[in-house]
Amino acid sequence: MMLVGTDSALEQLSLLLAHDANDVRFIGITGMVGVGKTTLAKLAYDKIVHHFEVHCIRENVREVSVTERTLVRLQKQLLCAILKENIENVRDQQWGINYTKKCLCNKKVLLVLDDVDQINQIQVLAGKKDWFGMGSRIIIITRNERLLVEHDIILCHNVEVLNDAEALELFSLHALRQDRPEEDFLELSKHFLDYARGLPLVLKTLGSSLYARGQDAWNRVRDNLRKIPKNKTCIGIFLFNSTKMYYFFDTHS
Ligand SMILES: Nc1ncnc2c1ncn2[C@@H]1O[C@H](COP(=O)(O)OP(=O)(O)OP(=O)(O)O)[C@@H](O)[C@H]1O
Ligand SMILES: [Mg+2]
Repeated sequence: MMLVGTDSALEQLSLLLAHDANDVRFIGITGMVGVGKTTLAKLAYDKIVHHFEVHCIRENVREVSVTERTLVRLQKQLLCAILKENIENVRDQQWGINYTKKCLCNKKVLLVLDDVDQINQIQVLAGKKDWFGMGSRIIIITRNERLLVEHDIILCHNVEVLNDAEALELFSLHALRQDRPEEDFLELSKHFLDYARGLPLVLKTLGSSLYARGQDAWNRVRDNLRKIPKNKTCIGIFLFNSTKMYYFFDTHS
């Protein structure tokens, strides 16, 4: 994977994680859609995972919660993944909570809950510090900073968008397979950078869709982007030559 500008973010996050400290820590990762929260968390996870007795990344918590009435199935999956054994049926949420505590309170756990969007997902799947053994780290990834506040998680890393140089590099890597555009594509590239506002997901998607296409095609895509109103928040997806295109608008800036 071609990653840009992750070094300093990883350093900051590592300071919060402080994997060699003996306390139990909940750490939040926040930031907008497609800014790179999951990517950063995985880098951090890979870097420290060998220090932990048991570990698990639980992705798509939001998505799974939508299709299920309770979190019982998620509790079960999480236990199976962490303990690497088949857990007997989790009877109900409360039983799952008690069982999770019982199994994990003496273990040094590294747990990532990715894409959390409801407070009860944290309460039911990760609960409190006393669920986990000394030195455990629980990473909660969410687009909604409020959830962390509500759960009293004060160690928090906000993933920032890429700066101009990083954005140009990422866009160029995908659109041109080189780390900087030649002169003739540089001006044109800037339109796409303006549009993407430093969001890796948009830079990648736009860049890849322009790869190996001529200036005429680039101009056409640029003109299409211009038609989209700038003042409202809108997350849209449409198909462009069978590539999914994502559009984001940020009313805050
Ligand atoms: N620093 C980076 N350099 C290059 N690509 C990146 C970087 N950060 C993220 N990406 C890419 O951008 C896309 C979105 O990243 P990611 O899934 O981590 O975002 P996210 O913040 O978790 O989004 P969501 O809120 O939808 O879960 C991915 O394809 C990822 O590979
Ligand atoms: Mg994510």
